[in-house]
Amino acid sequence: MKISSSLLACDFANFGQEVQRLTNAGADFLHFDIMDGCFVSNITFGPGVVSAVRRFSNLPFEIHLMTTEPIRLVERFISAGGDVIIFHLEATSNVASTIREIKNFKKKVGLAVCPKTSVSEVLPFLETVDMVTIMTVEPGAGGQSFIKSQILELQELVRYASSMKIPVLFEVDGGINPETAKISKNSGADILVAGTFLFSKNDLKSSISELK
Ligand code: DX5
Ligand code: ZN
Repeated sequence: MKISSSLLACDFANFGQEVQRLTNAGADFLHFDIMDGCFVSNITFGPGVVSAVRRFSNLPFEIHLMTTEPIRLVERFISAGGDVIIFHLEATSNVASTIREIKNFKKKVGLAVCPKTSVSEVLPFLETVDMVTIMTVEPGAGGQSFIKSQILELQELVRYASSMKIPVLFEVDGGINPETAKISKNSGADILVAGTFLFSKNDLKSSISELK
């Protein structure tokens, strides 16, 4: 089980040190939640912040674009140091060209789906992406409760992918704590995104290993 630590819950006044802290605590990925105030009402940070902290960690940077028309941001976040670009199915009518754009830079592609979206809409793209990110909270904020019904969606996708022998990874994003981590793991998740739970304790290392 891999842990992708979301920076959304960290101390923004000490961003670089927080990146270092999470890296030393055993995170497998760092997860940057990019919100543009349009796709979601919240606004977080841009490529300038990502590039400023790139030197503090060798971990892969996951860029979770909660933005409209993500294709226009791909190059900037890859130049800033992004390794995995996750964008929302609901944010564009050009899913295939957005996937191609990311692949042109030889980076990993993640396709994210909101709780209200049926995962059947993901099926046509399953063979062309590296990962599907199942949102288990409404995108736009940390600290929300896990939406348990999304586990059924995850199980459906995992069953379909294994029956079709599609080697796609599944990530669960939102409301992860030891209890929901177990449910997600048992339902076929490969990567868990955690923010609030990790920062709710002062020992990041034990929180990360508790989730693993
Ligand atoms: C929500 C973000 C999630 C969130 C996870 O829009 O995509 O990554 O920050 O944080 P917690 O663990 O607080 O749900
Ligand atoms: Zn996220």
